Amino acid sequence: ISSLIDDSEIYRETILTLIAHVNELNKVGALPSNDAEAIINTLRSLAKEPYKPSDEYEDVHEYIEAMLIQRLGNSGGWIGLGRSRNDHVATALRLRLRRLIIEIASSIIELRRVALNKAIETADAVIIGTTHRQPAQATTLGHYMLYLDELSRDFLTNLLSIYETVNKSPLGSGPLAGTMVKLNRVREAEELTFNGIVENTAYATGSRYFMLAAASITVSYLVELGRFINNIEMWLMPQLNYVTLEPSHLATSSIMPHKRNPATLEVFRARIGEAVGHLTSMYSIERPVEAGYQLDLQEETRHAWLIMRIAIDGVGIIADLLRGIKVNEERVKEDLAKYPVTAAEYAELMSMSRGIPFRDAHREVAVMIKEGKNPGINPVEAIRGKEVLGSPNPSIVIESAKARLIELSSIETRVKELEVRVNKAEAELMGG
Ligand code: ARG
Repeated sequence: ISSLIDDSEIYRETILTLIAHVNELNKVGALPSNDAEAIINTLRSLAKEPYKPSDEYEDVHEYIEAMLIQRLGNSGGWIGLGRSRNDHVATALRLRLRRLIIEIASSIIELRRVALNKAIETADAVIIGTTHRQPAQATTLGHYMLYLDELSRDFLTNLLSIYETVNKSPLGSGPLAGTMVKLNRVREAEELTFNGIVENTAYATGSRYFMLAAASITVSYLVELGRFINNIEMWLMPQLNYVTLEPSHLATSSIMPHKRNPATLEVFRARIGEAVGHLTSMYSIERPVEAGYQLDLQEETRHAWLIMRIAIDGVGIIADLLRGIKVNEERVKEDLAKYPVTAAEYAELMSMSRGIPFRDAHREVAVMIKEGKNPGINPVEAIRGKEVLGSPNPSIVIESAKARLIELSSIETRVKELEVRVNKAEAELMGG
């Protein structure tokens, strides 16, 4: 039943929680000041030591309490007053998760910056976009970069909103229905720079909605990002050869000297599959559990950390990959001549210029294609001629990317402020 190994993720956060708790006990006069001071000093030195508990303890909370008693004698036992592991683990989880959210947000900001700069660089680089895995319309890599940016922007918005859900304090809630100690929960929340408290003590200790919410939007994003990976892999197939990557993302075969396998993409795609599995585990574990704390919740936690790790590592790898991606314009040109990817535009222009219903123009163009002709217009003109907002028209792409870059730097400032605030409060609790 032990969570000792998983608890390494929240060792520091558990100590921060305990320091805030002891400070509060001291402020309400529930324990002698000199004992409070000694406990806090010991907690701070424990934080500097490596987390190496022997396996006789059930979890990090028991371990730290045992260390306090070992070093301070019986007065270390004050730590248990007004505390439940249920409210303390919930607090530590939220402290850890808010930091991971800041980390993911920062890696998304970097990915967006790369995608937006690449959008500007490749606003003219024609590529054949697919639907149904078949040549569909001429577009540009720049246009696809703005797709990735908009997806990442939506995720970032959701992430920062869920940060507010996570960043609330369950501390002082006891095991379920509070404690007889007159803890000031708002003051404790302020000390840990939480933005307020999780009010209901049973919800504060027994719910993991904050964790499910963060994990589920992250996995939704990863699944969508994975589809993008599939596009890159498709474009990399020698049969298409529309793009090239830096060699650091490619691996050769031990027997086939000609191979250039997109190794990082393949591994990340598999990890995304694992993340889906971890989220499914979280749902499955939590679903049968009543609203109060049960150890099932302990077993749910590690899946959340694994999802966050997959996201942080993978997003960094994709950003690195996109920095070095290039379009093989000559190869794309060959296929532009081969497939009628501007037939839709041709039919539209025919409909409008001849004043005939689109269905008639469509039929006429379909007949031409059946006869082996390749009706269409110059793909560059097709792209440039589109004035529709969000289309691949290079001037629209560049203008939009530039505006997004400006917007991005203000989001970055906001995320940095969150990080600075968290760092400052935690450093203070740790004694600077
Ligand atoms: N180790 C547990 C967890 O990670 C917290 C302890 C709660 N244990 C208990 N018997 N109430 O969730």
